[in-house]
This record gives sequence, C-alpha cells and structure tokens, in this order.
Amino acid sequence: MTQLVSPVDLASIVSLDEFEPLARERMATSAHEYVAGGSWDEVTLAENVEAWRRHRFVPRVLTDVRSVDAGGTFLGRRAGLPVAMAPMAAQALAHPDGEVEAVRACAAAGIPFCLSTSSSRTLEDVATAAPDAERWFQLYLVASAHYSRTLVERATDAGYRAIVLTVDLPVLGYRERDRRAGFVMPPLPHVDGAMADRRTRYGGLEQQHELGLSWATVEQIRRWTPLPVILKGILSSEDARIAAEAGIAGICVSNHGARQLDRSIPTADALPGIVAAAAGRTEIWVDGGIRRGLDVLTAFALGATGVMVGRPLYWALATAGGAGVERALAILREEIELGLALLGAPSVDALDRSCLAGRAG
Ligand SMILES: Cc1cc2nc3c(=O)[nH]c(=O)nc-3n(C[C@H](O)[C@H](O)[C@H](O)COP(=O)(O)O)c2cc1C
Repeated sequence: MTQLVSPVDLASIVSLDEFEPLARERMATSAHEYVAGGSWDEVTLAENVEAWRRHRFVPRVLTDVRSVDAGGTFLGRRAGLPVAMAPMAAQALAHPDGEVEAVRACAAAGIPFCLSTSSSRTLEDVATAAPDAERWFQLYLVASAHYSRTLVERATDAGYRAIVLTVDLPVLGYRERDRRAGFVMPPLPHVDGAMADRRTRYGGLEQQHELGLSWATVEQIRRWTPLPVILKGILSSEDARIAAEAGIAGICVSNHGARQLDRSIPTADALPGIVAAAAGRTEIWVDGGIRRGLDVLTAFALGATGVMVGRPLYWALATAGGAGVERALAILREEIELGLALLGAPSVDALDRSCLAGRAG
C-alpha cells in the first residue's frame, strides 16, 4: 500500500535522479517495480543512461552567450524546451489524477505531452484538462483494426496533433520484475473499452500480436487520419531509411526504455546511423536514459531534432503530481540553458558533431 509521507520541498530537489527515491516511498512496491524495470537482465537499461555519458563536449568560447534559447521545435511548432513527455502507461500508479496532472504540467512548461493508449484517463478527459496543450496520442493496436481506428479518430477529434505509433511491441518483453512483484495493471479505459466493441473478440495488448504490424499497417493507419504519424521504436538505420522514403513525418529512436528486447543497442549509439540514413527527410526524436540537460544537448549534437523523457517525469509525478513534473522540467531547462552557454551555442539548433570529441567508444 502507498504509505503516508510528508510533502516534499520541491525547491530542494536539484537533479532528476532525486525523484526516484521519493517516488518509491509514495508508490506501491509492485507499481514502482513496473516503472523502474527493464526486460531480462536489464543490460540495456543501464547502457541507455551510460551511452549518453560516454560523449565528451568540445566547447567554443568568446561567442557572446548573454542570451541562449532553450526552446525546441516539434513538427514545425515551437516548444518551450526541446523535450516532450514520453508516452507512459497507467499514470494513476503515480498519482490519482495521473495524466491530467501531467498534461497540465507539460502545458505550463510549453512542451508536448504524449498520451499512451494504455492511459488511466480517457483521451477526451486529458484534452478537456488541457485544451490548448500540444498533445499527441500514442497508438497501440488494440482489439480489432476497427476499434483502433476509432481511437485514432477520437484523438483527431479531440485536438491531438500527432499519432505516435509504437512499433517495438509486437509482444511484451520478458519483464522479470513484474513477474516477481506480481504486478497487475490497473483499469485502462482505452484498452478495456475494446471489450465493449461488438466486432472485438477480446481486448488487450496481446492483440498487437494477433493483428500483426507491418509497413502495410502503417500505410493503413496513415489513411485513418490527417494527422502526422510518427513511428516510435526504431533502432535500425535500414528501418529509418524505409520510414523516410515513405514520407513518415517523424521517427523516435527508442528501445522502449529498455523494456522490450534486452541487449538492444542503446539509443545514443543507434542515433548517428539513423540520422545519416534519414538524411534530413524526417524529424528524428530519441528517448531512453535521458537524465540530464547535458544528455539532451548530446542528442542534438548527434543530430536528433527532439528528445523524449520517460521515467524521470513518472517519478516526478509520483513525488508531487503536476508540481513535481513542473519542477523536473524547470531543472532540465536550467541545465539546458547553462549547458548551451558553456558550449558557446545560442540554441540546440546550433549543435552538431563539431560540439563532440571524436567518436565515443
Ligand atoms: C512505466 C512505463 C510505461 C510505458 N508505457 C509506454 C506506452 O504505453 N507506450 C509507449 O509507446 N511507450 C511506453 N513506455 C516507453 C516510453 O515511452 C519511453 O520510450 C521510455 O520510457 C524512455 O526511456 P526512459 O524511461 O529511460 O526515459 C513506457 C515506459 C515506462 C517506464
């Protein structure tokens, strides 16, 4: 059970890593394990974080950095930071108003919020909570193609501005922590709602496997909506090339926070090859192991056009709801601003490989 703990002084938190122990005190053990965990031996979980830290900066000096701009651009729209909140399931595990708190915090910081299909609140609830926020809907194929299409149409109608199709979960990774802790997913309205669909035999993420996802499915989904479709979960340069050639608006270099295939390449290592293969034809976002503003700057120096942050924001949500998420984003902002000034760069758009020493080993 969640214990009673005293409120935290958010101003005393100065790095994203401080949120996890605070969240652990406030969450049920199995919920904490679910969020923290990776798959199998969690090799990639550790490497995702380490791979960013292996790079070394080569700062420029005497560039007059009295004003630096910590903003970013996603899908042609300016954002307060070059960072979006990654789609993460069941945010009621962190806070009773989970996604509603999170989307408001992202709106306050001017950054995009990506709602998971496996959310604790409906996409309409989240839209109503933050009508003006930059909201994206992450799609898992659940139940029938017909039901999945209704989700995409509902998201389009509710003012979401992108469909982020997750392509790295044909089946669920082997997650030992969940098995040991006996983790049980709380109610998920979009997934559970599939049961009410008359054309559906049964609902749930196992249907991803039943329905099969292929490049043909991607084309089918693109026909369901005028919104841009982003493919999340790309690690191979060849897949990035196919996506770019198909005119996909964006890809997210991701190994699902090391929750799917363990021993997958860390995202920082996959990024340069993907940037080269995409050759400027599509936006390239990246997530996995981003824990510092300096990781964000490294991602941009390697050619990313946007970054998504996962677990740290989940922990911040569990620590203090939306105020916690706002505090986490304020820390990231300060780190990005200071990092840019010390690199001698006016904005993330000015970063490239020349900001990094040689090739990280
Ligand atoms: C608790 C949790 C739930 C997640 N749920 C989803 C999801 O529903 N859909 C999805 O595409 N990715 C999901 N992810 C993956 C994240 O979107 C993101 O790729 C990953 O968390 C990034 O790594 P990081 O946590 O190291 O920042 C989830 C990750 C976590 C930690």
